[in-house]
Amino acid sequence: MSTQKFQAVRGMNDILPDESDAWAFLEATLRRWLAQYGYREVRSPILEPTGLFVRSIGEVTDIVEKEMYTFVDSLNGESLTLRPEATASCVRLAVQHNLLYAGPQRLWYMGPMFRHERPQKGRYRQFHQCGAEALGFEGPDADAELILMTARLWDLLGLKEVSLEINSIGSLECRQQHRRRLVDYFERHAAMLDEDSKRRLHANPLRILDSKNPALADLIDGAPRLTDALDDASAAHFESLQALLKSAGLGYRINPRLVRGLDYYNATVFEWVTPLLGAQSTLCGGGRYDGLVEQLGGKPTPACGFAMGLERLLAVLQESGARPIPEQGPDVYVVHQGEAAQEAAFLAADALRAAGFAAVLHCGGGSFKSQLKRADASRAAHAVILGEDEVRAGQVSLKPLRGQGAQQTLSLEQAIQFLKT
Ligand code: HAM
Repeated sequence: MSTQKFQAVRGMNDILPDESDAWAFLEATLRRWLAQYGYREVRSPILEPTGLFVRSIGEVTDIVEKEMYTFVDSLNGESLTLRPEATASCVRLAVQHNLLYAGPQRLWYMGPMFRHERPQKGRYRQFHQCGAEALGFEGPDADAELILMTARLWDLLGLKEVSLEINSIGSLECRQQHRRRLVDYFERHAAMLDEDSKRRLHANPLRILDSKNPALADLIDGAPRLTDALDDASAAHFESLQALLKSAGLGYRINPRLVRGLDYYNATVFEWVTPLLGAQSTLCGGGRYDGLVEQLGGKPTPACGFAMGLERLLAVLQESGARPIPEQGPDVYVVHQGEAAQEAAFLAADALRAAGFAAVLHCGGGSFKSQLKRADASRAAHAVILGEDEVRAGQVSLKPLRGQGAQQTLSLEQAIQFLKT
């Protein structure tokens, strides 16, 4: 028989047992935190019709131009795409199921997203996001709530090295005016543009402002600023948002160059950035998208939201030495030696589980010493030891494996009572 070894797809990670505790801790923290703000979970399919993302994210964005996993379902010829983000999915879901008839909705989701980017630290082809979308709220109190709740999350996680950048990109009309001014400006300096920027000049000149090419830095710096030409409504919205953030005591920086890489935004945009992640400095990004619900077939509905990358969040938590993530081990590891003890151990482990404890039963024999080594490696808090002496006396030995406390020999019931306190 020929054998073949496979590797996971490049840029897509396995999460191994030593890592999954941190994931579970983070996910549990996020769920509790989202519930505190009245957000309710939605789960949408990982595959959506390609058009959903092309229409909402925008045809000339990096994501749609070159990062989507799009394929034709050979069984029916339908073009499908692995979701690169879930705001579009969330709006599709709300429109499809008429959720907004019942009033505004606070929704959240968590799960894998897919973008065919060049993999590097903090940037993967399958990555995980946790996102919140507030549909039907005009703001700016809704914008402020989203921003303040993320600040609260960093507190919960003990994360300090994050800072907030905000901007307003105005209404559609004022973006169109700004766009014309930008095209004018860059056309006057066309000779200085690189290939990417030339391509974007007419399709999406705003994206030139996002260019990381240092040769363009001065040119970009001199470009007309949207914030200098905001429409009155957006300017007032932005002012009120800032007043709310200030009254909550939250520091921020206005970054006039912050435009974000998806086309559905208007008015408020924001990002939480960190110096701990090298080039991938954005931990969380979001903003308003007041036109998207209508664009996807719903009634005109204001909306805003954000999403954060969980790989990046975990990396930052590790790097920053923020509050340590608690290690999850079983409550008890049961070791035993001899035939009678094996049977007693089997029953003891079962009784412990019936009493609500996580109990791992040692399998595969070995000396007490080697079994206790395994018990320690399992990160269990206690070992229950069953040898010939214990079985004869109808008792167990309970040995604390973490912290202080002496080993004691007692009945299984007493051991369970002891563990409960
Ligand atoms: P985004 O800025 O494209 O926004 O992604 C949000 C976050 O997902 C990023 O800040 C980053 O932490 C993480 N992320 C993005 N791409 C990758 C990648 N290749 N590898 C690892 N992490 C990544 C959105 O997706 C919008 N849907 C956010 C939103 C929600 N706006 C309104 N509502």
